[in-house]
Amino acid sequence: MTEFLEWNAEYELGIPAMDADHRDLMQMCNHFLFLAQNHTPPDQLANCLDRLILRTRAHFQAEERMLDRHGYPALAVHKSEHERLIRDAEALSAAIRDGSDNRSLDDIVAETSGFLRSWLLEHIRQNDRPYKPFLRSLS
Ligand SMILES: [Fe+2]
Ligand SMILES: [Fe+2]
Repeated sequence: MTEFLEWNAEYELGIPAMDADHRDLMQMCNHFLFLAQNHTPPDQLANCLDRLILRTRAHFQAEERMLDRHGYPALAVHKSEHERLIRDAEALSAAIRDGSDNRSLDDIVAETSGFLRSWLLEHIRQNDRPYKPFLRSLS
C-alpha cells in the first residue's frame, strides 16, 4: 500500500506563491504514486512524470527569480540543487519511457516512487527553508 505525501506545517514557508507551488507539486507527486500503484502503462507514467518536471521547472524559475531579486547569497548552490533534481527526474522518466535501462520496469517505477517521496520534501526542508529567515530579515 502506497503512502501518499501529506502536507504539514514544517513545509510552510509563509510565502504564499511558493507555498502554493509546493502544495501543487506535492499533489502531482501523489498522482504519480497513485498511478504507479495502479499498474498504469509506462508511457502514461512517464507523461505524468514529465508534467511534474515541467511544473517543477516553472516553480524553480519563479523561486530563483525571487531569490535573485533579493540578493540571496546561497542562490548559486540552490540553483545547482534545482538542476540536479531536474536531471535525476528526467533520467527516471527516460528510463520508464524507453526501458533502455537494464532493470525491470517495476524496479524503475519503485525507484521513481521512492525518489518522488523524498525529492520535493527534502528540498523544501533543506534548501528552501533557509531562505525564509533570510527574506524575513529584509522586511
Ligand atoms: Fe528550491
Ligand atoms: Fe521550492
